[in-house]
Amino acid sequence: MSATEPLIDVIAGARPNFMKIAPILRALQARQAAGGRLRARLVHTGQHYDERMSGDFFRQLGIPDPDVNLEVGSGTQAEQTAAIMTRYEQLLLQARSDVCLVVGDVTSTMACAIAAQKLRVPVAHVEGGIRSGDWGMPEEINRLVTDAITNWFFTTSEVANANLRKAGVGDERIFFVGNTMIDTLLANLPQLRAPAFWADAGLQAGGYFVMTLHRPANVDDPQGFARLLRAVGEATAGLPVVFPVHPRTAKTLAALPDKPAGLRLVDPQPYLEFNYLVRHAKGVITDSGGVTEETTVLGVPCVTLRDTTERPETVSIGTNELIGTDPAALKPALQRLLAGRWKKGAIPEKWDGRTGERIAEHLERLLQP
Ligand code: UD1
Repeated sequence: MSATEPLIDVIAGARPNFMKIAPILRALQARQAAGGRLRARLVHTGQHYDERMSGDFFRQLGIPDPDVNLEVGSGTQAEQTAAIMTRYEQLLLQARSDVCLVVGDVTSTMACAIAAQKLRVPVAHVEGGIRSGDWGMPEEINRLVTDAITNWFFTTSEVANANLRKAGVGDERIFFVGNTMIDTLLANLPQLRAPAFWADAGLQAGGYFVMTLHRPANVDDPQGFARLLRAVGEATAGLPVVFPVHPRTAKTLAALPDKPAGLRLVDPQPYLEFNYLVRHAKGVITDSGGVTEETTVLGVPCVTLRDTTERPETVSIGTNELIGTDPAALKPALQRLLAGRWKKGAIPEKWDGRTGERIAEHLERLLQP
């Protein structure tokens, strides 16, 4: 460890990581420019590698090129975990860092945390402490394992703080800082822009839905997925449904005999286009967690096709509602939405655009010689 310039590995692997690291890197750079001691090393694991799942986000969000790319690519959960651990361990053995900072709950988050902690490199987890309670989701396993070996928790909510305390984590290791994903959203609001297909598709503000689906429970079984898509078509009252298709979902979709009418299938959208679509939508139908945070801040009604959420504040405070995975629940929910009887929602505490700065400030203090 360098006594003067602590090196922080900032880990990113999959799409939902990129918007979370951007404000942290910016805050660390700003401190460095102002004479601060911390240095960042950006490590991309390569879990997501397409331009559409990765490169576009780096460009649009002004994230610098990674210092290191582990290039792990696709695989099963265990294959990806093993490849990331092996390659990240190599990196640490060659050039050790002083902190491994991981964000969110993807495979890369857990794998790097394990490799680092085994070499006694302290782990900082941004978005630590959130829990869905559903062990059927790989992300929940990633959260549990990561948090079990995390030194410093940067949290998004009081619920997360309470979960950590319940697990025996002392208050001196919990830092309630807010939501870095929302830093990125607020910083980019003026830059949001309509996708190229906006006019062609005849889209108008408030006149369409946006849908994202990629959870195995919703998309891996072709028959169940087809039933779900039919229900969406029936419940959306003829309004267009813009559906940016995740690579996992595309595989099942390609196997369906007939494509559902009314759905506007598009490629995964870059950040600025995707959030433009969300901001101007009548409502959003999703099984993502991050999207429910963005709809909460944008005040857009959000229908989540899951039984549980690790982000309960999007329901208790925000515009999100969980309707489960039974397609029959869509119709009554969307009828309420279309009739204008959806809750208005408010913005959770500290989701204010300053979270990256708070994290950098804490790190500077924690890493004092
Ligand atoms: C991962 C995260 C999930 C996150 C999601 C967002 C885990 C456990 N899950 O799930 O939390 O919400 O990303 O996108 O980490 N693929 C491509 N191109 C890519 C990346 C992936 O074609 O750039 C393909 C893979 O080959 C694989 C499928 O998409 O067949 C799924 O990718 P994978 O990284 O395994 O997990 P996601 O389902 O994307």
